[in-house]
Amino acid sequence: MLVKLLDKKVPDTLILPLTQDEQLPSRLADIAARTGVDAETLKNDFKADPKEILTLYGAGVPGRRIYLCGLGKKDGFQDICQNLRSLTSRFKKKLPAKVGIDLRHIEPEKLQRMSEAALCGTLMGLYDIGKFRTPAAEQHPIEFGNAKSELQLVLPGKYIKETEPAAIRAQVFADAYSEIFDLLNAPGNIKTPEYVCDWTEKTGKLWGFSVKVLQTDNLKTQKMEALLAVGKGSPHAPALLWLEYGPKSRKNKIPVFGLVGKGVTFDTGGVSLKPSNNMHLMKSDMGGAAAVLGAFMTAAKLRLPVRMIGAIPVAENMIDGNALKPGDVIGSCAGKTIEVTDTDAEGRLILADALAYLLKQETPDVLIDLATLTGSIIRAIGTQAAGLFTNSDALAEQLAQAGMNCGERLWRMPMWDEYGSDLKSDVADLRNFTGKPMAESISAAKFIEHFTNNHPNWAHLDIAGMAFADSEFAQGKSATGYGVRLLINFMENWLLPDQLPSETNP
Ligand code: BES
Ligand code: ZN
Ligand code: ZN
Repeated sequence: MLVKLLDKKVPDTLILPLTQDEQLPSRLADIAARTGVDAETLKNDFKADPKEILTLYGAGVPGRRIYLCGLGKKDGFQDICQNLRSLTSRFKKKLPAKVGIDLRHIEPEKLQRMSEAALCGTLMGLYDIGKFRTPAAEQHPIEFGNAKSELQLVLPGKYIKETEPAAIRAQVFADAYSEIFDLLNAPGNIKTPEYVCDWTEKTGKLWGFSVKVLQTDNLKTQKMEALLAVGKGSPHAPALLWLEYGPKSRKNKIPVFGLVGKGVTFDTGGVSLKPSNNMHLMKSDMGGAAAVLGAFMTAAKLRLPVRMIGAIPVAENMIDGNALKPGDVIGSCAGKTIEVTDTDAEGRLILADALAYLLKQETPDVLIDLATLTGSIIRAIGTQAAGLFTNSDALAEQLAQAGMNCGERLWRMPMWDEYGSDLKSDVADLRNFTGKPMAESISAAKFIEHFTNNHPNWAHLDIAGMAFADSEFAQGKSATGYGVRLLINFMENWLLPDQLPSETNP
């Protein structure tokens, strides 16, 4: 797909995004005049509600179509993006090879954001989740979206140059999402730990970040016994993916971000077996890994002026005669011993090793882990936000703000020490499950905290309700890409403590 920015020679098929604002009536009157439709009828039939689409056909002009695309009242980035995504995903079979998005009516101060969001959404709508379906013989070939097709952003000529970076960003994000969706939606029989490692090595080469894979021998040398223990019941050995992007030198005060993402390729629960009804969804238990991978891909392609270190523990939580058992005591990279009271609380075990290893190798300014960690966070705050756990108010503030900016919301949860008291074990330094069916997302965060060396800027994001979700884009739950935009937005706006405004840094 070719993306072009232009002001003349507008294609016959146009998408016209419209916000429900004071200007809507005059814009509709204008469209009515252009298309020969009665203005009152148009105002009656199109209210610009979110997801509302009205197709207009140009009077007497063959092939002329205008899709009025309602955006509702909200004009957040995510709202615009989702509305356009909805349009292409619903109409992709009907769209011709050349489509334009008409943004000539957008106010100049909103143009960059609108361009990026609209373009990204339009491209994302073309994502095809049915990778394993046999193509139907008589299928109507899709014209829009194939290599020869064109998407044209129609803008006033004088803004074309300054909108180019926004158009590039949109394409980079859309491409990254498409790859990340494929990875997270892939079934467990294909997406084994070695598949994820190969995928990451290939992707690193293509997108511009370095990847090292620590296999069993290396994991043993590094004492990553918790990661090894989780992978013990599977024929597919666990691994740690080590990612790096950006300059090593600290000369120009480039911030260093440590990112850790839970990469459980399939979570049966292990011997503490999960009920079978929704177990198939556990192919998505690597949403944290996907967010970190997506952030590396986009940051590297966009050449973000930051340094990023990624540690992704990858394992399959299975059962066989070798599997970890409830009550087993294991070691860990940090040197602490852990009594595994529940093998289904495996995420915190592999995160513990990845965090400890990262902190042995590097001293990041900020350390963030993302994980589809607990069902408990879903019971607590549902599927509208991820849980945010941190001891740093400044970091909480900046992460939450980044989430609001891009529509990937975060909600802060408490971290009081009392929540960690039930993690004491009689036989080991700590246990991985309190045994009490309450506040499990918080005790999980308290468990992980033991492996963060009291890093002053550590945050844990429990994205269990966000990474794989119901949407209009698939029959069942599917990958959302949650976390990618959040991390990029956060890193772009992160301020080192001495750069914070004076109220927060007296
Ligand atoms: N992968 C699950 C958490 C999860 C649940 C992710 C639902 C996405 C959707 C995690 O490994 C797990 O099983 N957690 C247990 C923890 C419990 C044993 C303390 C849970 O939440 O039930
Ligand atoms: Zn589990
Ligand atoms: Zn899990």
